[in-house]
Amino acid sequence: MIKIAQRVVNIPPSPTMEGDRKARAMRAEGKDVLSFAIGEPDFPTPDNIIHAAKRAMDEQKTKYTTASGIDELKQAICQTTEATIGLSYEPSQVCVSGGAKHALANVFGTMLDPGDEVIVIAPYWVSYPDLIRLYDGVPVEVVTTGAENFQPCMQKVADAITDRTVAIVVNSPNNPTGGVIDDEVLADLAALIVERDLVLLTDEIYKDIVFDGRRHSSPAALPGMKDRSIIIDGVSKSYSMTGWRIGWTLGPSDFIRNMGNLQSQMTANPNSIAQWAAVEALTGPQDAVEKMRKAFQQRRDYLVPALCEIEGIKCTMPAGAFYVFPDISAYLGQTVGKRQLNSSKDFCDYLLEEAWISSVPGSGFGAEGYFRISFACSMEQIEEGIRRIREALTKA
Ligand SMILES: Cc1ncc(COP(=O)(O)O)c(C=O)c1O
Repeated sequence: MIKIAQRVVNIPPSPTMEGDRKARAMRAEGKDVLSFAIGEPDFPTPDNIIHAAKRAMDEQKTKYTTASGIDELKQAICQTTEATIGLSYEPSQVCVSGGAKHALANVFGTMLDPGDEVIVIAPYWVSYPDLIRLYDGVPVEVVTTGAENFQPCMQKVADAITDRTVAIVVNSPNNPTGGVIDDEVLADLAALIVERDLVLLTDEIYKDIVFDGRRHSSPAALPGMKDRSIIIDGVSKSYSMTGWRIGWTLGPSDFIRNMGNLQSQMTANPNSIAQWAAVEALTGPQDAVEKMRKAFQQRRDYLVPALCEIEGIKCTMPAGAFYVFPDISAYLGQTVGKRQLNSSKDFCDYLLEEAWISSVPGSGFGAEGYFRISFACSMEQIEEGIRRIREALTKA
């Protein structure tokens, strides 16, 4: 047996991947499983981006680049950031990585010493706590609930700060809730971060998917925040480019230089062709981004009221991203279709086995009593999914 390091043994399997594995196995048996578990847009990558990648290959842009990314992409990221959140950065303040997840891993690797605490607002994207632990940090959860519309309570955040606290992770629009933190709450959070001399790590990967005419607000753009903020972003969600693996970090140049050094020893540069494709994504026509955003909004407008009509399901209206995170606590401890449901995992297993619907239990996001549905799928699938969920949950 080859020895496995304890830090790797400690990593739990991703709850989203686990649901996906079961659904695949059922599909292989010929069952028509509808997936509501996937966190990626169902649209094709726009043609102009595909063509830019082909051009990059034809032009032999196929060699190592600077570890932290090509200057053309860093310039494009700076321009996009200025246009969307009004903050001006220079290329020396940008590190391009192999996706936002890789960016986050390198940020934690650059920032954390053993025992350093990072506050994570729950429900949280599954990877934050595990990445923090991987770098010997300690994730500290601050819980928000659907009843609070997933807005963090400032008193709870303040109570979670200790003399080991280094940073607070904010993710708005949020995965898994679709929640967007209100501007007043962001302002209070920023004031607290300044007062307690902390770092803000703001994951803005869903910034282009905001509904009802709302504009994305970045807490990094609030007074006094830029120099203590690290912004994570990427092309995966906005441009339907999840497989291309391009994400980035913006922050003070000293931090970014050190992060680039770490990255240079681990992966060196992100894929050269995907970097050129990302330049086209950011600088080319933007109509596909708006088309996808509108489609997500239409689906949400059908899905959420339909879910709320099912007895026992309580649902807040997501203001962004492509997820809805219903409260299903009324079902826990109950018997449905002859099955005793004691956890969100039982609930999702029941939907998978009974209705052939795959979804993700809230427990993986630090929120037992909820489950996540992704509406990055067709309207037809959503309509059929609702029908099946209703039928499965009303079984005696
Ligand atoms: C909140 C959040 N951050 C980061 C990521 C990672 O994105 P990428 O595909 O760029 O690694 C995801 C992907 O699901 C996400 O939901």
